[in-house]
Amino acid sequence: MGKTILLVGGQFGDEGKGKCIDFLTEKADVVARFQGGNNAGHTVIVKSEKFKFHLIPSGILHKGTLNVIGNGVVVDPKVLVGEIEGLEKRGFKITPNNLAISSSAHVILLKHIDEDLQTGQKIGTTGRGIGPAYTDKIARKGMRMSAFVEQNSPYAQRLKPLVKETYSVLNDAIKKKKNILLEGAQGTMLDVDHGTYPYVTSSNPTAGGASTGTGIGPRKINAVLGVFKAYTTRVGSGPFPTELGTEMQAKNEDMKKPLQPAEIQAANEGSEYYQGKVLRKQGMEYGTTTGRPRRTGWFDAVMANYSVIINSMDAIALTKLDVLSHLKKLRIAKAYRLGGKILPNFPTDGSMLSKCVPVYEEMKGWSQPLENVSSFSQLPSEAKAYIKRIEELTNTPVAMVSVGPGRSQTIVLKKNFFF
Ligand code: GDP
Ligand code: IMO
Ligand code: MG
Repeated sequence: MGKTILLVGGQFGDEGKGKCIDFLTEKADVVARFQGGNNAGHTVIVKSEKFKFHLIPSGILHKGTLNVIGNGVVVDPKVLVGEIEGLEKRGFKITPNNLAISSSAHVILLKHIDEDLQTGQKIGTTGRGIGPAYTDKIARKGMRMSAFVEQNSPYAQRLKPLVKETYSVLNDAIKKKKNILLEGAQGTMLDVDHGTYPYVTSSNPTAGGASTGTGIGPRKINAVLGVFKAYTTRVGSGPFPTELGTEMQAKNEDMKKPLQPAEIQAANEGSEYYQGKVLRKQGMEYGTTTGRPRRTGWFDAVMANYSVIINSMDAIALTKLDVLSHLKKLRIAKAYRLGGKILPNFPTDGSMLSKCVPVYEEMKGWSQPLENVSSFSQLPSEAKAYIKRIEELTNTPVAMVSVGPGRSQTIVLKKNFFF
C-alpha cells in the first residue's frame, strides 16, 4: 500500500525538516516540494558529509527516488542550475529520472531579487526575491517555467528536459501505490495566512499549501507530520513570545567564539540571555541560507497547539533534543497572559502576540549528552518526562525524536506514522 505523508514545519522554520525528510526518504519513492523557493535551507548530514538544499528536495541523495519541484514553488533558475551542478560535482547525476520541475512553477527574475533587497529589510527577508516573485504570480503577470525554458539561455536549456506537468507525475505515482513524501519549507508561523503577519514569508508552508502547491487533492494525503525543535528559534524579525534575550543581543555576539563554562553557569543561575545563548551555541543556530544568528527561546506549547490545529497534524517529530543538555531547568510555555488575563486561544494578530507574556511550566533538565542515545529507554528520565509533557500539552503523539544531525541519530517511537 502506498502512502502520502506530508511533513511541515511547526514553528518558524529550520526545525530540522531536511534531516527528517532524509530519514523518511529511505522508504519514499517520490519527494516533492510544494512552496517557497531558495529562501529555504535544508541541511542533511550523511556519513559526516554535509549537504545544503535550497530548492532541490532533500530526497535527492537517495538512489531511485524521484524529486519534484511542485507548481507552488518559485524557482530561481541560476540557483537551481548551481545546485544541480554542485550535486553533480559530488557524484550525484541529475536526470529526468530523479528530478522533475513543474511547468507551472513561477520564475524568480533579477528584478524580484533587486526589489526584495530594497524592500525586505524591515521584515528581515532572505533577499532571494521570494515575495516579489509571488506578488507577480498573484497579480497574474509572472513568468512560468513553461515559458522560461523556451528561451535560448544556457539555464533554460539545462532545465528544459526536467520541466513537466508534475501534477500528473504525482497523481500517477499515487495510483501506482508509491510512497510520496511532501516536503514543506519554512514553517507554520511564517505562513502568509496563518503566521505572524506581516513578518512572514509569501507562501503557505502549512498543510493546505501542499495540495495547491502540487495538485494532489487533500483526501489523497494520508498523514501530516509536524516537525518541532525541542525549543524555539526564529531568524529575521517579528513576534516571538518565548524569546530568551533579544534579537540585538543575538546579532552582537561573536559567532566564532565557543560557548564558555561560565556562560552555562550564568544560564543555570537564571540569566535568560545566557539560556538563549546556550541554545544558540549548542544548537549551532546560524541560518543555513543567510548565516544570520537565530533568535532562541523555550518550547512554546501554545504556538504548537495552534500549529497542530492549522495543519491537522497526526504526530510530531521532535528534533534537537540533544541541544537541551546541561541546562538544569527547562521551561515550556503553556498559556499566554495579556493585560492580566489568560488568553483562551492563540492570537493571530501579530501586535497582540507581541504583547503576550508566556506562563511557564518548569521542568528538570539533564546534564548528559544525548547524541549517542539510540533508543527511548536510554534517554535520561528527565528527557523522557520532557517528551511526555510535550505530548500532553499538544495532545499529539511524538512519533520520532532526533538527538543529532546524522541519519542514525533518530529514535522512532511510533512506527505507524511513517511509511
Ligand atoms: P530545516 O530548514 O528545517 O531543514 O532545518 P535547517 O537545516 O535549516 O536547520 C537545522 C539544523 O540542525 C541543521 O544544521 C541540521 O543539521 C541540524 N539538526 C537537525 N536535527 C538535529 C538534531 O536532532 N540535533 C542537532 N544537534 N542538530 C540537528
Ligand atoms: P527553511 O525551509 C527560517 C524567514 C526570513 C524572514 C521571513 C520572510 O529553511 O525552514 P522571505 O525571504 O521568505 O521573504 O523572508 O521568513 N524565512 C525563514 N526562516 N527558515 C526558512 O526556511 C525561512 N525562509 C524564510 O528570515 O523572516
Ligand atoms: Mg532551514
